[in-house]
Amino acid sequence: MSERLEDIAAAMVADGKGLLAADESSGTIKKRFDVIGVESTADSRRDYREMMFRASDAMTKYISGVILYDETIHQKAADGTPLVDIIKASGAIPGIKVDAGAKPLAGFPGDTITEGLDGLRERLADYYKLGARFAKWRAVIDIDVAKGVPSATSIGSNAHALARYAALCQEAGIVPIVEPEVLMDGAHDIDTCYEISKTTLTKLYTELYAARVVLEGTILKPNMVLAGKKSGKVSSPDEVAGKTIKLFRETVPAAIGGIAFLSGGQTDEQATANLNAINAIGPHPWKLTFSYGRALQAAPQKAWSGKAANVAAAQAAFAHRAHMNHLAALGQWQPTLEQAA
Ligand code: 13P
Repeated sequence: MSERLEDIAAAMVADGKGLLAADESSGTIKKRFDVIGVESTADSRRDYREMMFRASDAMTKYISGVILYDETIHQKAADGTPLVDIIKASGAIPGIKVDAGAKPLAGFPGDTITEGLDGLRERLADYYKLGARFAKWRAVIDIDVAKGVPSATSIGSNAHALARYAALCQEAGIVPIVEPEVLMDGAHDIDTCYEISKTTLTKLYTELYAARVVLEGTILKPNMVLAGKKSGKVSSPDEVAGKTIKLFRETVPAAIGGIAFLSGGQTDEQATANLNAINAIGPHPWKLTFSYGRALQAAPQKAWSGKAANVAAAQAAFAHRAHMNHLAALGQWQPTLEQAA
């Protein structure tokens, strides 16, 4: 495969393909395993992820790349094959989460700053040797308007960190996924999400320009524009699509390599329906696909429930969600296809 950053980025958003975000930290995967009654150990985490990476139907047809956690990029399958080699054999590109998580921002209660820049140059060189050709850094922007969250300081600090991370990635020959996630957890309405996402993306691209990041060799991983979960409202796919595309046309340069959404706590079907509606109102200046964690994995996790006997059923559940999102990335999904499954 070509090693030019813009070619790697283009392959990540190839027609109808998207990313599997399997980079849950040990703390997050434990929470997911708690729900299905599985103890989180190095082996159970390996077995679970191996199950997905060996789902060859899903992986070869619908998945362009996999975002891994540090533990996973070093792990071997039960038969001794490095998990990275299984991913590569399917034609997908291995990627790596390199941030060290969102920590409270001193002086700004309710805001966070994502850490992990110290030593990043050296870690990226190691990850490159292990096969990673793209990376992910997630900034977290919560919304609580009454409390003044997010502050301009939080948005500015996170955008600056994303730009420093992106420049280091490109120096190492790795495509940076820049993820400024405006959370959907709050009680805000859809227009508040739009406004805060607009401020965040505007600041992000100002910082990326200032850091001399080559936009063609980057992927944006944004939230969709949605009403907050605690608002009691569920935005319709048409409304989500219209406001999300309006936002991007105002703030996201056409030059970037592509856009791969996070699912952020939407239901599986909402994440698919909204991506589909976004693509259905195209053409757009960018490719728009998925980089889902929960919305790709909730169904296979449940089907698997830690039992080797359930591997085939779990792989089928993963393939189904990947197929639905493949269609959504092409603007060809229909709700009836879900019932047919
Ligand atoms: P969700 O799709 O579960 O939001 O996860 C995507 C991701 O990688 C967040 O950083």
